[in-house]
Amino acid sequence: MKIQTNDDVTLRDIRQEDITDYIRWETIETEWQLWDAPWLYEGRTPEQCERELKEYIEKLGRWVSEASEYSDSSIRSRFEIDYQGEHVGSCASYLIDGDCNILDGCDTTSLGRAIGICVFDPQYRRHGIATAALTGLIDYLKAHGSQRIFTQTWSGNERMIALAKKLGFKEYRRKDGIRQVRGGVYDGLTFELMR
Ligand SMILES: CC(C)(COP(=O)(O)OP(=O)(O)OC[C@H]1O[C@@H](n2cnc3c(N)ncnc32)[C@H](O)[C@@H]1OP(=O)(O)O)[C@@H](O)C(=O)NCCC(=O)NCCS
Repeated sequence: MKIQTNDDVTLRDIRQEDITDYIRWETIETEWQLWDAPWLYEGRTPEQCERELKEYIEKLGRWVSEASEYSDSSIRSRFEIDYQGEHVGSCASYLIDGDCNILDGCDTTSLGRAIGICVFDPQYRRHGIATAALTGLIDYLKAHGSQRIFTQTWSGNERMIALAKKLGFKEYRRKDGIRQVRGGVYDGLTFELMR
């Protein structure tokens, strides 16, 4: 299944050949880790990196085999992003609870669905890719019954905050000082889509 969001940006299911890109983004082109939940990556030992990479590759393999079984009507929780035919990122959605924490799997008591995005290679940033991809993802989620849509970041991620506001999100919940990044203390932010 493919969603053509504009002439340049397509959302599609994950494929086997994407795994090579993910290994590169995990091991060589890692700048995005400074911004996308950086607390998960800071201060890891080489052994931890190796173990987490192995687990991640296994998870990607599972996602590829699950995606190969999808029908057009299966509800997707993640998409790969192609820009002019090049694999440049991914976007995904997950359920959050009333306290804005991530919920595993399906839960009828969820507050709603949060969306996230990464354009891994900095050279592809500021080309309107995230705007197009998240607009496509929001339309997809609304068409599949999501009523409340959120996005989450931290107070040091100014690009993501500006992107959220541009898309029509408003701050919904701020958790003071819960994130420590590169020696600084930041707030955890949840935004809700108001349109
Ligand atoms: C945040 C991110 C997804 C934006 O992707 P992008 O494709 O560059 O975004 P777009 O080109 O669609 O820009 C959309 C808006 O984001 C904001 N933005 C993007 N880059 C910005 C920058 N360098 N400075 C300020 N605002 C910026 C602007 O509001 C911009 O709208 P405008 O161009 O009309 O001013 C991208 O920078 C990224 O992947 N960063 C690393 C991973 C990350 O932080 N993910 C979010 C985790 S919560």
